[in-house]
Amino acid sequence: MNPTAAAAIAEQIQYELNRDFYPEGFPTLPQIPGGRYTSEAFYQLEMDRLWMRSWLVAGREEEVPERGHYKLFERLGKAVIMTRGADGTVRAFHNTCRHRGAPIVGETSGKANLLVCRYHSWCYDLEGRLMRVPEEHDFGDFDKSQHGLLPVRCEIWDGWIFLNFDPDARPLKEELGQLVDDLAPMNMANLRIKGRLSYKINCNWKAALDAFLEAYHVKAIHPQTVATLLDGKGTAIAMFNGGHTRMALPKKHSAAGGTWGTEDFERYDIAGVPPVFRENNCAYGVFPNFVSPFDSGGFPFVTFWPTAKGKCECELIFVGAGPEDETAENSEYWKTFVANYDKIQMEDFQFLAGIQKSLESGAFTGMTLCYQERRIYWMHEEFDRRIGIENIPPALRVEQLLTPFITA
Ligand code: FES
Ligand SMILES: [Fe+2]
Repeated sequence: MNPTAAAAIAEQIQYELNRDFYPEGFPTLPQIPGGRYTSEAFYQLEMDRLWMRSWLVAGREEEVPERGHYKLFERLGKAVIMTRGADGTVRAFHNTCRHRGAPIVGETSGKANLLVCRYHSWCYDLEGRLMRVPEEHDFGDFDKSQHGLLPVRCEIWDGWIFLNFDPDARPLKEELGQLVDDLAPMNMANLRIKGRLSYKINCNWKAALDAFLEAYHVKAIHPQTVATLLDGKGTAIAMFNGGHTRMALPKKHSAAGGTWGTEDFERYDIAGVPPVFRENNCAYGVFPNFVSPFDSGGFPFVTFWPTAKGKCECELIFVGAGPEDETAENSEYWKTFVANYDKIQMEDFQFLAGIQKSLESGAFTGMTLCYQERRIYWMHEEFDRRIGIENIPPALRVEQLLTPFITA
């Protein structure tokens, strides 16, 4: 993070700690229509125009460390093979044989020299080219070069593999903008997976995501956990182009590191992380579906995935520094780290199924957001811009308001 941005965070934290009035010039936020969480039509718009056109984090490079390693991405009704080729490049292909559509690989991860369909043994190389077709002469006028595996856009950000189903999408790093520079000191390519958590939740994916975009709830539902570590009053928020956001909460205790009550954190400290990430918990929202509270002691990538209009999954992939072979399976530090997050997640999730019921019942028609919840509003504005405002029924749109408040 550049020093100007770090200084702006420190200044905004001081402003917030002293603020007991509504910020001058900031609009009172209109309601977010409840139908955005319950309408089948809106859900379909999101599927077609948001999820199929956004960069989505799908895994870590370390999960496909060598030539021929592959991992499957199975979400949003898609099945994609991510595999490392002979040239070291990670590529992605639809896991769909060009012969009659059988899935090529059946395991969620593995290693193969060639990708061989199990149905009639069509054989593809790691670059997706169709190499061999049994009894090829029986296909008549047939050109193997026209029947390679269909590619999916695949790009890497500091060790994280991203996919995009839109062949014309902007390059990933252009899309991430300032986040690339802000988070470079986290040295993410060199971190390693330390643990995972996943949850199935009975609510629209946005209701779950919303819970991670504000600190207004911290005192009420995290009194024994987050509230003992972070000072929600000092929350400094930035809204960036592209719907990305940042939320820095000053830490109450040690400025040296050590998240969520873990001890012995020096051993696991990510070297070179600047003070702004040590004095504060800097959470970023990366459009459209993930948030991460970056910390020098390690952190999870938290993603939200719709499985139906009123159902979603939340996945946490924890990464950190320290001895490579230590994970939540064999290290007290990571076991505690993951368990503490699990506890916090459960605190966050406790109301979500009930919120969805309220929305579906028709008794609750919209979300009334305060200034501290403006990241939620900013995300919703961006959903509409991506979907195309004209494609959204007028009653379900949100007013475009916050562009003047972008952090440049
Ligand atoms: S469907 Fe794959 S070889 Fe026939
Ligand atoms: Fe929370």
